[in-house]
Amino acid sequence: MTSETSNGDAPAVAGMLSEKLGTSIAGWETGRGLPPECYRDEAIFELERREIFFREWLCVGRADQVPLPGDYMSLTLIGEPLIVLRGEDESIRVMSAICRHRGMVLTEPWDGEWGEWFDDPPDSKGNCGRGFRCPYHFWTYGLDGRLLGAPEMNRTPSFQRDEISLPRLRTEVWEGFIFVNFDDDAAPLAGRMDSLSDLTRDWQLSRMVTEEPAVLRKLPWNWKIMQENSMDVYHVDRLHFPRHAVLPGAGYLPLTIDTGDAAIAAGHRATHKDFALSPIGKPLLPVIESLTDDERSLSYVICVPPTLLIILNSDSAFYRLVHPRNAGMTDIRQTLMVPNQYRSLPNYKDLVQVGSAMHLRLNHQDYMVDGSLQRATHSRFAPRGPYGWQEEIVAQFDSWVARRYQRATTSLPDVDPAVVGTGV
Ligand code: FES
Ligand SMILES: [Fe+2]
Repeated sequence: MTSETSNGDAPAVAGMLSEKLGTSIAGWETGRGLPPECYRDEAIFELERREIFFREWLCVGRADQVPLPGDYMSLTLIGEPLIVLRGEDESIRVMSAICRHRGMVLTEPWDGEWGEWFDDPPDSKGNCGRGFRCPYHFWTYGLDGRLLGAPEMNRTPSFQRDEISLPRLRTEVWEGFIFVNFDDDAAPLAGRMDSLSDLTRDWQLSRMVTEEPAVLRKLPWNWKIMQENSMDVYHVDRLHFPRHAVLPGAGYLPLTIDTGDAAIAAGHRATHKDFALSPIGKPLLPVIESLTDDERSLSYVICVPPTLLIILNSDSAFYRLVHPRNAGMTDIRQTLMVPNQYRSLPNYKDLVQVGSAMHLRLNHQDYMVDGSLQRATHSRFAPRGPYGWQEEIVAQFDSWVARRYQRATTSLPDVDPAVVGTGV
């Protein structure tokens, strides 16, 4: 991959971008999308790792995926293998999965298939009982991450078992979504999300149950392309015609919600009450009982950048975790959430399967777009186009990112969009 910015020095990269960023902070009316290099350049991805992914709250899944003490799931996030688990005290913990001895990943399939060593370990889950045992030399760790045992180490004078434990990440749970932060100084998420808790109260997200997520690895596009496409309502009447007719672009409802810059959100008015993106425009599952009449014709899209996207519908909610590997490659984990009692419907599995068929078609159309847009970022004719009014939330997202680029250096002057112009 070619790179116009050859080093990963954050201030240098941000400085190079600075004259172009103002237009991505200006809002949809006068603004322009992020510069194409932000989607393809590894030096800029390195800036994002430092300024965004290692400083902001990242979603790793749902609390109901680890309901009992000892339940765990593992994933690799920004190159870091992590274990998400429920402790003996019922609290959620997220720890590094890297053994403190030589660095074996505790959840690695030690007896895996030929060639598996070329890739990140696959996601895993289960109940680990009282802890984890490293497959290499059998060091064992408790549910709190502390080292419990290490065979043959008693002859090593400098070995202090009590001093060794798996590094633990800051963890918060909002409405059942588990967030981690690599930055001990980051502002808490709690409190900042209250307005979104109010907005989504009737969906009762924290009480929903989570279907097994689909994990799509190594999608060949930048993480921001995926988030932007998921929030863009401008395309739904066109690219998805006629499958998206119940949620037309004209139904876009901009929202002004104070989240202390933690999240962005928009509403989307459906053509009728009790809508769904199903072949009949109606939900196959029951409508969520606690919704008001008004909410039964409303969808919300919520993005907690950089990783989480949530879409609320009249019968369920969908979420997607967007986890980049590098500038041009992204993993996603996505699934449906429903009220707990739906699982006891006699034909629940069939209804979910039928309902997801059309979503798969919609997703495939979006993935084609994502791949095409990523390739275009390498063109000498790559655009920085204007936003349509139904892309207002995309402009908010781009602004959120651009302000983090600006934060990378204190030497950047305040950028006045009127002075900078379009920067195209
Ligand atoms: S690397 Fe884990 S016990 Fe040696
Ligand atoms: Fe789409």
